[in-house]
Amino acid sequence: MNAVTVPPDAPQFLRLDGRASTIVFEIAALGAPLWRYWGQRLDDDLGTLYRASAVRPRPTFALDGDFPLSLFPTFGLGWFGQSALLAHREGRDFAQDFSQCSIKWERPGGAFVATLNDPVAQIGIETSVALSPLSDLLTLKTRLWNFGAAALDVTSLAAGVLRIPADATRILYFSGRHNNEFIPYEDDISPALWRRENRRGLTSHDCFPGALVFGRGACNQTGAVYAAHLAWSGDSVQTIERLDDGAAAWHLGEWLAPGECRIAPGAHYETPELLATYSDAGFDGAAQNFHAAIRARGPWRGLAPAPRPVHLNTWEGVYFNHRFDDLKDLAQSAAAIGVERFVLDDGWFEGRNDDTTSLGDWRADRRKYPDGLRPLADYVRSIGMEFGLWVEPEMVSQDSGLYRAHPDWALALDRRRAVTGRNQLALDLSRADVGAYLFEVLDGLLSSMPIAYLKWDHNRDLAPASGADGRAIYGAQTRGFYRLIDRIRHAHPSVEIESCAGGGGRIDAGVLARTHRVWTSDCLDADMRLAMHRGFLQFFPPEVMGAHVGAAPAHATGRSHSMAFRAMTALTGHFGVELDPRRLSAADRAGLIFWINQHKELRPLLHGGLVWRGQDQDGLVWQAHGAARDFVLIVSRTAPAARRIAAPLRLPFAVPGATYRIDEIAHAEQGVLPAAGTELFQAMRSGGASLRGAWLAQEGLPIPPLAPASAALFRVKAS
Ligand code: GLA
Repeated sequence: MNAVTVPPDAPQFLRLDGRASTIVFEIAALGAPLWRYWGQRLDDDLGTLYRASAVRPRPTFALDGDFPLSLFPTFGLGWFGQSALLAHREGRDFAQDFSQCSIKWERPGGAFVATLNDPVAQIGIETSVALSPLSDLLTLKTRLWNFGAAALDVTSLAAGVLRIPADATRILYFSGRHNNEFIPYEDDISPALWRRENRRGLTSHDCFPGALVFGRGACNQTGAVYAAHLAWSGDSVQTIERLDDGAAAWHLGEWLAPGECRIAPGAHYETPELLATYSDAGFDGAAQNFHAAIRARGPWRGLAPAPRPVHLNTWEGVYFNHRFDDLKDLAQSAAAIGVERFVLDDGWFEGRNDDTTSLGDWRADRRKYPDGLRPLADYVRSIGMEFGLWVEPEMVSQDSGLYRAHPDWALALDRRRAVTGRNQLALDLSRADVGAYLFEVLDGLLSSMPIAYLKWDHNRDLAPASGADGRAIYGAQTRGFYRLIDRIRHAHPSVEIESCAGGGGRIDAGVLARTHRVWTSDCLDADMRLAMHRGFLQFFPPEVMGAHVGAAPAHATGRSHSMAFRAMTALTGHFGVELDPRRLSAADRAGLIFWINQHKELRPLLHGGLVWRGQDQDGLVWQAHGAARDFVLIVSRTAPAARRIAAPLRLPFAVPGATYRIDEIAHAEQGVLPAAGTELFQAMRSGGASLRGAWLAQEGLPIPPLAPASAALFRVKAS
């Protein structure tokens, strides 16, 4: 046996503790702290820990020295994994060695800043690391300084680098498209580099900037799960790579276009924040940590958001056909069914009759609104609702007064054709004059009438994002958007804002630090929404998830679902209606009123609490919202059952010693009617059903039969 020599100078460790997780770094003799542990919370006394170099055998054909994964691993002097930084000065200084490191605790045992210096390449790095004692959220952010005399070209710079232990072998991530966001995919961690890049200029429908990594045993409520996402609404890149010792390194950061990041001497660059978490309570444990963190970072800053008002959004009801009298009538019909906020979507401004013109000309169209928008806003308020307005400030139509006056304000590349998307161009938000103009326009609208809410849209990908000097400005565009929205929020703090980009094209923790909800998808097909919501809830809490009851057939797919199934699917999110209530049958109208009332009654449980998700092996999916002793349970079926009798639904979070009363509040009956049948199901409908928590957790809740495209809603409460 080889003797292990432990250096006499005892190694020093940086330990951070969350609620249920611990992180340990080792202070290295040279360079950035080394990742030693991230996982379940450890004993208060770590006992004897050896240096990484003392416990890692040296492989054959290796450089002399040991190179474990550090907080900021860089290429060139012995690290062969992905580099946290790729940079050079005219081809020189490509190899960095951050040999000097100092640590400053910002919150002892919870947050520190590592300051690294490479005196040869003359680059400084400052990485902030914080682990929340409340949510187990790990936050990483990096700043880079150019201390040299010449400009530094940065090709890539990670916001943070995470270490995932060797037994975590699977990756769960999300892709999709317009009208079908948050589709889950799984990959194995293999010897190939796993890499996802988003180059669309905004968060995108297809490349959500985050993922989960876990071992084979992990499932919804159990098992070790690592999750991370970038709080950023622009281009992004993430890589996962197996290292020599079996652990994996996970890098997340901004994707930089060629030449985009050139740092002048003395200047610095700051990455977006990376949010990560560990949970040994499975995917839902990680989701619950993220929900707590997003709530703490969001515009409510940890205070419980006010009850989310039920919306009516005019888009799928009237599209571009705005007429003042008709919209008053529509508002009246919305108020009559219990809607609390009326949101006037696209079509209200000068000349906007379809999607080919007018973006940029943010004045009410006098042919549709002879006295402007204020009379409608006042009317909406007078009948007890808030008034919301759709805008798409970052865009300009070529057929618009704004474009004719300022063609140079649009993103474009000299001597290259203009690439339009939905017939429109994007404005250059890195320009101060454009930002000032847009602030003036939005401030004018918000000051001139009682607008409580803006639906802030962005209906195209960026190609190219280039400023007047011909250089790429993707990141500057996102920063310009943040500046504008921050300024609006500062000037109008009571106005709520929704982030939309053709549905879910701009959903991320960066935008959600500034906005009050997102528009999850333009697809209102309940069957598809059910899956999208489950993906969404992995990262974001239900109260920010815009979820509307649409018409039947659904405009995006042509499929029809019952009012109850549509409503139960939307129920858990920020609920709304996106249809013309005047065109509903009497039965559907009565149904919608019932569901709006249900939502209002249940929203304290649906929002602000914990969320659990699950599925059986035969096409049933369920979602529970609230607290372990009092929750709302929705069980849904999309495809026909293969089994004659559904297996009981195990609810692992039920409190063993408690007795729960189970009420079936509603059952979406479509097509074949379920036979209520058994005594228990009858009792669930008449208030007499109860089961012990241990039984619910271990054996499960018997579930009445469900036809395809139907759902059942339960209230489960411990006495
Ligand atoms: C986008 C949004 C829709 C609607 C339209 C209006 O597609 O996602 O909800 O606002 O724009 O043009």
